[in-house]
Amino acid sequence: MHGFRYVRNKLYCEGVAIESLAKKFGTPFYVYSQATLTDHFQKLDQAMARVDHLVCFAMKSNSNLSVLRTLANLGAGFDIVSDGELHRVIEAGGDPRRCVFAGAGKTAAEIEFALKKNVYCFNAESEPELERINQVAARLKKIAPVSVRVNPNVAAKTHSKITTGTYEDKFGIAFEQIEGVYARASKLKNLRLRGVQMHIGSQITETTPFETAVKKMLPLVTKLKARHGLEFFSIGGGLGIVYKPALASGSPAWWNSAAAKDILTPDKYAARLLPLLQPLGLKIVMEPGRFISGNAGILVTHVEYVKRTGRKNFVIVDAAMNDLIRPAFYDAYHEIVPLVDKHREVVTSDVVGGVCESGDFFCKDRPLPKFIEGDHLALMSAGAYGSVMASNYNSRPLITEVLVQGNKFAAVRERQPMKEIWAGEKIAAWLK
Ligand code: LLP
Repeated sequence: MHGFRYVRNKLYCEGVAIESLAKKFGTPFYVYSQATLTDHFQKLDQAMARVDHLVCFAMKSNSNLSVLRTLANLGAGFDIVSDGELHRVIEAGGDPRRCVFAGAGKTAAEIEFALKKNVYCFNAESEPELERINQVAARLKKIAPVSVRVNPNVAAKTHSKITTGTYEDKFGIAFEQIEGVYARASKLKNLRLRGVQMHIGSQITETTPFETAVKKMLPLVTKLKARHGLEFFSIGGGLGIVYKPALASGSPAWWNSAAAKDILTPDKYAARLLPLLQPLGLKIVMEPGRFISGNAGILVTHVEYVKRTGRKNFVIVDAAMNDLIRPAFYDAYHEIVPLVDKHREVVTSDVVGGVCESGDFFCKDRPLPKFIEGDHLALMSAGAYGSVMASNYNSRPLITEVLVQGNKFAAVRERQPMKEIWAGEKIAAWLK
């Protein structure tokens, strides 16, 4: 289910015409559909219903407080990677006891804060980290729940910048070393070995890599459970979404049923994995980010200029790489559609921002409807790794975020006031 569709020729988010949001809030801005967030969370939650499980939303994909509250209200836990993210969970009314704390570089201060807030588990990525967690816990006279992130050395068949489960990657501890690591960690007095974790990568669009990794892990997990009394197995996140239309129909991909056939659905994922996981008798933790938030958000922008120069037609818009870096960073594909659809001739175009970098593009050489100055465009599937990766590059303010529920909408982040961009900066005394 997706909350974005054309009604007659106007793009709507649920019951709200997005053009009206553009008038009210000005561009650029992100729009999130609460119904889509809810639907995606529930589909996955229900698909896994046959086993004791916890869906921890990977909030690195979208950490807006209203997005977090939406998911917390549905019973989600959170996959966090910093004390900042834990503060956000608390601010949003989420439960730290349903949080798993991941990341290869946890500082002592972060560990202390998370321990005091009683997070469900620390997913440790190295032996020195286990020792540090033990030390901090001893100082606080607490027992820290830990699991170790296993690097199963399985290729995820995705972009190299988002592959995490091979021996070329910095993540986790190599599969062969894990039994020894658990044996040594079991001697650390202020640790409780609560689970075991893996995550092989992001935007994985087939079930096979997950299945291969889980199959490889099963004997190890069974052994660790017997030896150390584990409670859970986290199979990570990484479920991919549809970004590209399968047919050149002009309709965004994800409401195109031809494209939908090949989607990695929660049901397909569960059908292949549950028979493997069920016999373990462990709680299954999942850490999906993109699957829940990706197609629940779009970025709306305004065409400032159109110019034909050299060999190309450039559509210059008021959003830029600092608002959505995925095309520049991963060559990522985001569908680009007009808010008002009308018959237009097709022109091969580059849609670009105004930042002074040739990497500042949203698409290159793409056949698109002929856009003109003043049009509003939507970059689809921008709900995950969009606003969270934004920056102030070129001293551009962070942009508005709007949440829609049915006919209701609210700005859930205000456009950053210009002066806030340099609010923390000072002119050194000797320069005055
Ligand atoms: N668990 C761990 C340990 C992770 O490292 C990640 C993502 C997730 C869960 C959630 O993965 P997801 O379900 O969202 O695929 N910025 C990149 C993606 C980076 C993913 C980092 N780790 C992008 O825009 O494609």
